[in-house]
Amino acid sequence: MSQSRGQWSSHMGFILAAAGSAVGLGNLWKFPYIAYENHGGAFVLVYIGAVALVGLPIMIAEIVLGRRSQLSPVGAFLKLTPDRPGHRLWAAPGMLGILAGFVILSYYCVIAGWTLRYILMSVSGQLATMVGDGSFNDFFGAFLADGPQQTLWYTIFMTLTVGVVFFGVKDGIEKVARTLVPLLFVILIALAVYSTTTEGFGRAMTFLFRPNFHELDRGAILEALGHSFFTLSLGMGAMLTYGSYMRRQDSIPKAALAISLLDTAIAILACIIMFSIIFTEDMEVTKSSTILFTTLPQVFFKLPGGSIISGFFYLLVAVAALTSTISLLEVVTSFAIDQLKLARRAAVLLTGGSIYVFGLLSAWSLGASDKLTNFNLIGRDSTVGMLGTLDYLASNWFLPVGGLLIAVFTGWVLSRKASHEEMSDGHGPLPWYNGWQALIRFVAPLVVGAIIVSVILGAEYQ
Ligand code: TRP
Repeated sequence: MSQSRGQWSSHMGFILAAAGSAVGLGNLWKFPYIAYENHGGAFVLVYIGAVALVGLPIMIAEIVLGRRSQLSPVGAFLKLTPDRPGHRLWAAPGMLGILAGFVILSYYCVIAGWTLRYILMSVSGQLATMVGDGSFNDFFGAFLADGPQQTLWYTIFMTLTVGVVFFGVKDGIEKVARTLVPLLFVILIALAVYSTTTEGFGRAMTFLFRPNFHELDRGAILEALGHSFFTLSLGMGAMLTYGSYMRRQDSIPKAALAISLLDTAIAILACIIMFSIIFTEDMEVTKSSTILFTTLPQVFFKLPGGSIISGFFYLLVAVAALTSTISLLEVVTSFAIDQLKLARRAAVLLTGGSIYVFGLLSAWSLGASDKLTNFNLIGRDSTVGMLGTLDYLASNWFLPVGGLLIAVFTGWVLSRKASHEEMSDGHGPLPWYNGWQALIRFVAPLVVGAIIVSVILGAEYQ
């Protein structure tokens, strides 16, 4: 088994592939808009705290479980559990992870598909003509409500994802990630430097970095926590699966730190860029969830070579999204391979195909179908619609609950010897090992657990 299992070719290869999974629409589309909705400052601080105290330790835990077991989530938990009565219950967090991967991939590809149309419209000059006459919001609203258009771009994006996983991820993902993740970083830094010259930069920094705790409610704390899982690709075994391809001579703690820093830096850079533009232009943000698609293009065309910058930017968003969707599909697929004993190609077609069909519900929930558009399971404004509801369920519930179980498992079920060995192999002495243990045994479960309980008790709605 372990012989036929793929491996990253180098330490950097793993870091970039995992960073490719982490960096995606979560950073470039979602974080800016939820930070905006939750009034910046305090929310950003809670988010950074969540990444450091909960996200990073859990990322280490996931990679430890993956490299230790050499398996995908369900198999990993079963293999690493001592053979006691009831030990098969530990398949549950793995199953929850598969469900999360299924759900997230289905709506994630809908949004990722939009970037494809934007690339095309940048290059064809269509986007440029629209910026001038201010019809952007109208155009975008119409695009969302256009069933055939949504189906088209969604189908293309899902096909790309299935295509890569079908032909084998390891060579593909690693190579793509190696060139494009650094490139994405360079472009974002260039745009961030540009944003320092804009008038709105000061206000953007204040908005992002001056916390005002009065503006923070429990819903926001849950959202920050949920997002820290989402953006780091945690809580459903994606890092676990990637970790299972990691070489023994590479350091898990160093990789986890690098991935988390890279991911957080990119999310914050994206905010600095977008808010500077919004505040400079005093743009009215009518629907914050579409900042990336309605606000940002307008500034590109103020720069020389706007079409090229814009085309390039959406290409990079698309690539960032693709390196993420691949990791989502890989989790579900490797489950089908390991547990249902399917051949890789059959597994990809089966999982990709069923996720595709389910995702059509999200694709048509943005105006194309009234029923799906008004779908509201939870009764919270921001969750209206099938896509919104699934995103809410997955990132605020499945991932935190999955993360909680991963933390409990690694802290309390896996032996200290095993975790210590995995963390020190390729790393050397671990003076802070006990600190990590404290975080994974107590802090992470208590913080995540407390928030879950407070939401169950309904505190969020007050
Ligand atoms: N982290 C990605 C983003 O921010 C999304 C993602 C990819 C993900 N794989 C995941 C989220 C696994 C949760 C779990 O866009």
